[in-house]
Amino acid sequence: MQTDFLVIGSGVAGLTYALNMARKYPEKKVMVLTKTREDETNTKYAQGGVAVVNDLEHDSFEKHIEDTLVAGDGLCNEAVVEIVVREGPQRIREIIDWGARFDRQPDGDFSRGREGGHSEFRVLHHKDITGSEIERTLLEAVYRQPNIELVTHCFVVDLITQHHLGYLVTKSTLDIECYGIYVMNLQTNRIEQIRARITLLATGGCGRVYRSTTNPSIATGDGVAMVYRAKGRIENMEFIQFHPTALYEPGSPSPFLISEAVRGDGAILRNKDGEAFMERYDTRKDLAPRDIAARAIDSEMKRTGTEHVFLDCRHMDMEKFRQHFPNIYEKCKSIGIEAGQDMIPVAPAAHYSCGGIKTDEWGRTSIHNLYACGECASTGLHGANRLASNSLLEAMVFAHRCYIHTVDQIDNTAFREDIPEWNAEGTSAPREMILITQSLKELQQVMSDYVGIVRSNERLSRAMRRLDMLHEETEALYARTIVSPQLCELRNLITVGYLIVKGAAFRHESRGLHYNTDYPYKSKLVQNIIL
Ligand code: FAD
Ligand code: SIN
Repeated sequence: MQTDFLVIGSGVAGLTYALNMARKYPEKKVMVLTKTREDETNTKYAQGGVAVVNDLEHDSFEKHIEDTLVAGDGLCNEAVVEIVVREGPQRIREIIDWGARFDRQPDGDFSRGREGGHSEFRVLHHKDITGSEIERTLLEAVYRQPNIELVTHCFVVDLITQHHLGYLVTKSTLDIECYGIYVMNLQTNRIEQIRARITLLATGGCGRVYRSTTNPSIATGDGVAMVYRAKGRIENMEFIQFHPTALYEPGSPSPFLISEAVRGDGAILRNKDGEAFMERYDTRKDLAPRDIAARAIDSEMKRTGTEHVFLDCRHMDMEKFRQHFPNIYEKCKSIGIEAGQDMIPVAPAAHYSCGGIKTDEWGRTSIHNLYACGECASTGLHGANRLASNSLLEAMVFAHRCYIHTVDQIDNTAFREDIPEWNAEGTSAPREMILITQSLKELQQVMSDYVGIVRSNERLSRAMRRLDMLHEETEALYARTIVSPQLCELRNLITVGYLIVKGAAFRHESRGLHYNTDYPYKSKLVQNIIL
C-alpha cells in the first residue's frame, strides 16, 4: 500500500495537518492512522482551553511570550515562542471557520479564562470540554474531505528506514530517511507496510509510563520510541509535567482532571488542616506555574502524611461555576462531592511530556521526510515547563508549519519500492499475556516511585537498574513472540522510561519540572539534553 502523505495520529495535530494537506492537493491521498477509535486521543480530554492573544486592548503578544518564557524556566527557544504566540490567532480563526465554538459573553466577545502562569485572561474555551469540541470539529471536517482516508484500529509498529533495507544505521548516520511504516492491522493481526513520500508523527504523549495519569490509555509514547529506535533525535524527556489537580480517586489509573481554570476563576488549594498553603510557596499563590504548584502540593502531602490536598470552591458563585465547568461539577457530584459545599480532594498526576522528538521550526525531525508535531514533538516552545493551555495552540501552529514545509518538499521526494515484508520468522503466539501486564505495572511503579516530581541521584540509578532488567526481559519476549499492541506499547513505554531517566540523570541541576535533591539549584549552563 502507498500514500503521498501518511499521518499517524488523529488528535488536534494529525487532523489539522491532514485537513490542510488534503485541501491543498485534492488529487492526492492523505492517509490518517489511529490505533483505537478516531476520537480516542488526549485532545478529546482537554478541558481548560487554548491560550491565545486575540484581545489587543487588554493583552499583548509580548505578555504571552513573557509568560511562556517565565514558565519555561530559561529553556524555551525564544524564536519558537514568538512564532507560536504570533501565529496562534490565525490558527484559531481557521478552526473557528471549520466549525469550532468557543464560549462568548452576551456582547459577543469571547469569554476568556485564566490559568497558572498567565498574567492575563486569554484562554478560549468551550465550557470545560474544549478538547472534545476541537476533536469533533476536526473529525467532522475530515469526514467531509473525500481525499482523506481515516483508518482506525491499526497500530503503527515501526518507521521504515535504510535499516530495513540492510544498511547499517547509527546515531551518527547523517542522512537517515523514512520511507513509511510497518503497521499492525488489528482486524487481521497481520503486519503490513505502508510506503509514503512524507510521514508525519502526531502520536501524542506518554503519561501511561506513570501509575497515575490524566492521559487516556493511548498515551504510550509510541512515536518517541519509534524515532529513538530509528536513531533519530529525542530531547528533554526529563521534563514530565504533573498536573497539580487531578481528582483523588484511590486506585484509579486515570484520574479525572479538575481544570486549572477552576483556580483561574478563584478556587483555593488547602491542606488537610484547611490552610491555604500556596502563599508559603510562591507570590502568585494558586496561580503559580504548574511545576511550582505540583511541587508545593507534593511537599504538603509528604509533610502532613496525606495522599491528597483539597481544592476549595465553596466561596465561588455556583451558578457561574456550573456554566463554565458543567462536566467537572457533574463528575464531582457523581461521586458525592457537591462543589458548593464540599472541598474537592486532589493530587498531582502525570499529565504532559514537554520534551519529545526534536524538531526544527518547520516540524522537521532529524530523519528525512519525517515530520512531527503535537505533544510527541519537542519544538522548543515549552522549555523546562509548559505554560497551561499552550499545547493545543502549539499543535495547531506546528501542524500548519509542517504542512507549509511539506508543500515545498513533496516534489523532491519519491516512493521507495524495494521494502521487504515484515519478518516474523521464529516468533510464536504469546503464551502468557500476564507477563506483559505485570511488567507494565512494574514499570509504572518504578517511574512513579523514583522518577516523579522529586528525584535524587540514588532514586535515578535505582530506576535505571530496574529498567535495565525490564528492558532485557521485554526484548527477549519481543524476539520470540508474535507482536501485539500490548507488547509494542510495553516496549515503547520502557524506552520512554529509559529516556526520561537518562535525561534526568544527565541534568545536573533543578530546573522547571525536573527537581533533583542532589542538585537543588539551577545551573548557569543552559542546555537541552539530546539523546
Ligand atoms: P493526541 O490528541 O493524544 O492524539 C494522538 C493520536 O496518535 C491518537 O489518535 C492515537 O491513537 C495515535 N497513536 C499513538 N500511537 C499510535 C500508534 N502506535 N499507531 C497508531 N496511532 C497511534 N492542552 C491545552 O493546551 N489545553 C488544555 O486545556 C488541555 N487540557 C488537557 C486535559 C487533559 C485531561 C489532558 C490529558 C491533556 C490536556 N492538554 C491540554 C494537553 C493536550 O490535550 C494534548 O497535549 C494534545 O491534545 C495532544 O494532541 P496530539 O494531537 O499531539 O495527540
Ligand atoms: C487544564 O484544564 O487544567 C489543563 C490545561 C492544560 O493542560 O494545558
